[in-house]
Amino acid sequence: MDQAIAQLKQWIAESDNVVFFGGAGVSTESGIPDFRSVDGLYHQKWKYPPEEILSATFFSRHPDEYYRFHREKLVIDGVKPNRAHLRLAKLEQEGKLRAVITQNIDGLHQAAGSKNVLELHGSILRAYCSRCRKPYSAELMNHGEGVPRCDCGGVIRPDIVLYEEPLDEDVMMRAIHYIRAADVLIIGGTSLNVYPAAGLIRYYRGEKLALVNLSETPYDSYANLVIHQKIGDVFSQI
Ligand code: APR
Repeated sequence: MDQAIAQLKQWIAESDNVVFFGGAGVSTESGIPDFRSVDGLYHQKWKYPPEEILSATFFSRHPDEYYRFHREKLVIDGVKPNRAHLRLAKLEQEGKLRAVITQNIDGLHQAAGSKNVLELHGSILRAYCSRCRKPYSAELMNHGEGVPRCDCGGVIRPDIVLYEEPLDEDVMMRAIHYIRAADVLIIGGTSLNVYPAAGLIRYYRGEKLALVNLSETPYDSYANLVIHQKIGDVFSQI
């Protein structure tokens, strides 16, 4: 086992207050592409740039085009939690991990058995009416045809944070609470490019910040431990 992974394993063995902060790189081994890797969603050719499609302005102006992208690119049937999701759920069951804070909208942490999951960017497994806010099952939205509408006539939308939209205040405050109090903070599978999510790690006050990411991030020098390997491989060793 490489030295850095052995160190992370030891930090976890000695702690009952580990917090995980993750992104799309946690789900790539489940078959869900991330956003900014070479084969990521933002490098795929589409009628409009994906980052534009995933904005509140685009959703309100072109709901039909949004839903074509949503069903083709965001909804991937049959995906399952991978080794990283499963290990995190186990660490929570063992009383070591206090919270998973994720930027992902795929629900795979909960599917793996994690209970305390803070979804900074929401989830495509929940939907509501953009006019009257009536909650809806995600089924119609994810697998229906055309633009799903509420009885009130409003457009049904996913419970995700689109560009130009604020993050949920309560989720942010809870995330800050866990990160500020954490003994060990593990950051995994995220390029730490998107704010305010990426800025949350500045609330960490300990000396055991481990960054597990295939590529370099702007926070590598800020971490106490950097492991540039596949998160599934690393988590199967800790
Ligand atoms: N193991 C470790 N790291 C991985 C793996 C893996 N198996 N697969 C990919 N990665 C790394 C990539 O190298 C990349 O640095 O995960 C990172 C994913 O970064 P992004 O694609 O930018 O995804 P993320 O950081 O989650 O993006 C944040 O941007 O568009 C928004 O709302 C969207 O939540 C998303 C946010």
